[in-house]
Amino acid sequence: MEKTGIFAVECVEGFMRMCNDGWLQGWHERNGGNLTYRMKEEEVEACRPYFTEPGPWVKMGVQADNLAGEYFITTGSGKFFRNVEIKPEESLGIVEINPEGDAWRIVWGLVNAKPTSEFPSHFMNHSVRKAATNGANRVIYHLHATNVIALTYVLPLTDRDFSRALWQSATECPVVFPEGVGVCPWMVPGGADIAMATSELMKTYQAAIWAQHGLFASGPDFDITFGLAHTIEKSAEIYWKVLATGQPIRQTITDDALRAIAKDFGVQLNEAFLD
Ligand code: 13P
Ligand code: ZN
Repeated sequence: MEKTGIFAVECVEGFMRMCNDGWLQGWHERNGGNLTYRMKEEEVEACRPYFTEPGPWVKMGVQADNLAGEYFITTGSGKFFRNVEIKPEESLGIVEINPEGDAWRIVWGLVNAKPTSEFPSHFMNHSVRKAATNGANRVIYHLHATNVIALTYVLPLTDRDFSRALWQSATECPVVFPEGVGVCPWMVPGGADIAMATSELMKTYQAAIWAQHGLFASGPDFDITFGLAHTIEKSAEIYWKVLATGQPIRQTITDDALRAIAKDFGVQLNEAFLD
């Protein structure tokens, strides 16, 4: 069906496609997971004709100067990725951030709804990634990646252990996330504490794992961010399949091989994670 109105704006279309792709991968049971996108100025202008009377300002419990006045597309709290295509105005919306960088208000969508309960984590991750990438980062994606979550029950919860296990489980991994991944111990979801802990990791990493909960991935656009999440989850799946055989691991990608990949692909591997 031909998209019209705000749904024909490319970033809105791309946002909805990513939600549906994540649903099809099985990462979004019920209301699991959430997605936010920091809009470009021209995208805000393309959407502005469809904006509605703004809602009240709502404080977030976190603050970031470098996101003051920005606009985000966000999934709604308690909303199902499965329903984004058929009920977009209830399932997602656009929020504006106030000049102080500590509150949001709804300017479109989120009918009888509010932004994801993880908005504080998304917001702080956006702030850190925007600074770390000179403004290039625009997407933060939280998914309940099955195999990654399962690994948090058996691997030590350290950045090093997870980064090495993932790098060794698929040859592309060191190229896609050469800095490794961060690991956050189990914490209560949905508040300022987990937001601060995650954003601390995102100063170093493009992705962070929440123990017994899921994954946060970041990137400049929907393709790169979805691709990063997909790569990490697939690598975790391979690691699981290997463990599930119950066989001893006869060979893996050696540290010298990881260094050789990094050299050929021109990426800088996190040396702290190599022997
Ligand atoms: P929301 O429905 O509020 O986005 O929460 C889902 C989730 O995954 C919490 O971590
Ligand atoms: Zn979650």
